[in-house]
Amino acid sequence: MSTRAAPILEIEDLHTCFELDDGTVRAVSGVDLTIGRGEVLAVVGESGCGKSVMARSVLRLIDKPGRITGGSIRLHDADRVVDMVTAPGPELRSVRGRKVAMVFQEPIASMSPMHTLGNQIGESLVLHGRATKAEARTRVVDLLRRVGIAAPERRADEYPFQMSGGMLQRAMIAMALSCGPDLLIADEPTTALDVTTQAQILDLLRELQRDTGMAVMLITHDLGVAAQMADRIAVMYLGSVVETGTTDTVLRSPRHPYTRALLRSVPKLGSGGRERLRPVRGMVPGPYARPPGCPFHPRCEEFMAGRCDSTVPGRVPAPLPAPAAGTDGTVSCLRYEDVRDDEGKAAS
Ligand SMILES: Nc1ncnc2c1ncn2[C@@H]1O[C@H](COP(=O)(O)OP(=O)(O)OP(=O)(O)O)[C@@H](O)[C@H]1O
Ligand SMILES: [Mg+2]
Repeated sequence: MSTRAAPILEIEDLHTCFELDDGTVRAVSGVDLTIGRGEVLAVVGESGCGKSVMARSVLRLIDKPGRITGGSIRLHDADRVVDMVTAPGPELRSVRGRKVAMVFQEPIASMSPMHTLGNQIGESLVLHGRATKAEARTRVVDLLRRVGIAAPERRADEYPFQMSGGMLQRAMIAMALSCGPDLLIADEPTTALDVTTQAQILDLLRELQRDTGMAVMLITHDLGVAAQMADRIAVMYLGSVVETGTTDTVLRSPRHPYTRALLRSVPKLGSGGRERLRPVRGMVPGPYARPPGCPFHPRCEEFMAGRCDSTVPGRVPAPLPAPAAGTDGTVSCLRYEDVRDDEGKAAS
């Protein structure tokens, strides 16, 4: 694989919990993840695996009773590194929007119903010193035009309820891009939209990413979207990343049994959906019932009794499929630790 870009974001052993009356939900439980400058990383995994909580943790937007309980989130700025876990409030606010921006799944919920689109986007520009009040209007109209909104002068004076879902999502993207972030986090940005609008928004995101060179963390449960958009993929299961690698490797030669199961559960890309699909067996365990050992072991088709149910797998370099040599990304599965151990024994 080619050498990777310098990192823009490095997440290490991140833990985010919700302390509820019935117990503690470990929504994010030891996430390790790196995004390079200008890279598009797709984060995939079933519902409830902690994708959104992980993404919100990066901006420290976790509502009570949620709390980041450990780890680090290092954001690389031009001349400094900001740890989003420990950064004081003013530093955090200066980074949000300006360096890292987020697009949420439900645009209507993340916009104020009381203010026009123009005022909301303009306010963020002024707040971050990107425009004076007088300039804001022109910048807003330019941004709305840039994301493909027709008649942007008129739309700038409208309220969110006057717009379609697709148009609102475009406006959200305009707002996120307004300060030229180095990293855009897009959490299921198209799931609420119809297929045609979905394709348009993804095209727009890709075009903007190429033009600006920003890095994108794209959260999606749709492997087709990941295939189309991402340079690399991270697969999450029960609050941790179980496999990473280039998009090609992860989709064509998945190493983790969970990734393999996920791929069997969706139509093969380009197959026209005629093959037999197999859902991932079993269910995601309830939020309080985290299995011991490998969290995926109760559902795993490659389960090794006496090992996977008692030993938590570490993260090891993920081998490329034969005949290729070398590794690409990481995998957390005891089967690969065996490979490493055997190699170690053979070498000694
Ligand atoms: N505010 C909250 N209070 C309590 N538990 C929460 C809260 N937000 C999330 N969780 C729990 O954290 C876990 C991870 O949720 P999260 O929303 O991150 O999953 P997800 O991977 O984004 O799922 P989806 O694909 O459905 O969006 C779930 O068990 C969820 O119930
Ligand atoms: Mg989510």
